[in-house]
Amino acid sequence: MDGFGKLTIEVGNGYIDDAYTMSHQDVDPGQYVVLAVSDTGSGISADLIEKVFEPFFSTKPEGKGTGLGLSMVYGFVKQTGGHVKIYSEVGHGTTIKMYLPRSTSQEDLEVVTLDGPVEGGPETILVAEDAEGVRAAVVEMLQELGYRVLKAPDASAALTILESGMPIDMLFTDVVMPGLLKSAELARKAKDRLPHIAVLFTSGYTENSIVHGGKLDPGVQLLSKPYTREALARKIRYVLNNEKQVTLSVSERDESDQESGASAAPADATGLRVLLVEDNALIRISDADMVSDLGYDVCEAGSAEEALPLLEKGEIDILITDLGLPGMSGENFRSKCDAVGRRLESFFRPG
Ligand SMILES: Nc1ncnc2c1ncn2[C@@H]1O[C@H](COP(=O)(O)OP(=O)(O)OP(=O)(O)O)[C@@H](O)[C@H]1O
Ligand SMILES: [Mg+2]
Repeated sequence: MDGFGKLTIEVGNGYIDDAYTMSHQDVDPGQYVVLAVSDTGSGISADLIEKVFEPFFSTKPEGKGTGLGLSMVYGFVKQTGGHVKIYSEVGHGTTIKMYLPRSTSQEDLEVVTLDGPVEGGPETILVAEDAEGVRAAVVEMLQELGYRVLKAPDASAALTILESGMPIDMLFTDVVMPGLLKSAELARKAKDRLPHIAVLFTSGYTENSIVHGGKLDPGVQLLSKPYTREALARKIRYVLNNEKQVTLSVSERDESDQESGASAAPADATGLRVLLVEDNALIRISDADMVSDLGYDVCEAGSAEEALPLLEKGEIDILITDLGLPGMSGENFRSKCDAVGRRLESFFRPG
């Protein structure tokens, strides 16, 4: 365009039908995503359109163009099973449309990054990690944060420590370690012996590959290697606090059940809809049971982002939300709710 004009970039869905494939043998009919780039430049004459995808073909002056731009586009599009088409009018401009096959598989889940404070605590953490250097570094970081730290080079050594009767608040274990006892099994045995123990896995593999590869159950807590000291501190604190919430929630529930005998449903509960926002699945299930026992209709969400569309539908009377949500915080979420324009009775649960 010689430095002047307008460049337009568009994306959208596109369909290639049988009629089009009759005249373009190199493409299959079906659903595509289309990326189109249009300019108001010189345009390309019909006799040149045939040649522009050829490697090293260029009409630019010596030393200005490589002639590889469009041939790379062509190569990339073909490798992904797509199609590329040029529409051009000399003197007006050019549109180049790239058709890429549309994928219907589930998108990879975004890993939620925590932004809580970097703080330690007085708890006891058992670190199971086979790589000596990594183990030493983690132990040092955790001690600096104020934790009491126990360590084991494999799962069976960790189990021996767990069985010793020492009070332990968290098991922080590598997913893949040598030895017959697998880390997932170690975590299960730890929970059998110490029901309130928090468990955090760590691995060099990504969360998606580990969970979908069947190594760990969905919903477990995982810290991906390599991690910074801050990421470690935040994740440890988050998992410890979450575990305390579960324990508290279950014990509060037992107590209130004992105090009140059977749950007393207020007469006007029927027809009222409660939206329960809680990222910890265990707490959410327990709270949802409790609330629906009281006679309310409950809908559940695991995050503020998931809850907002439900609120916007406008069928919610009462909101119960966790304050420590992984994405948008409970408080920010509350102000969004106000923005939705409905006055809701809200209860916050700290933690
Ligand atoms: N948008 C366009 N408008 C007009 N002509 C174009 C356009 N895109 C490519 N061409 C023509 O096709 C030729 C080859 O394009 P290609 O992108 O492969 O190489 P190049 O642009 O010459 O070099 P480089 O990409 O390295 O700058 C260009 O030299 C030009 O003649
Ligand atoms: Mg180019």
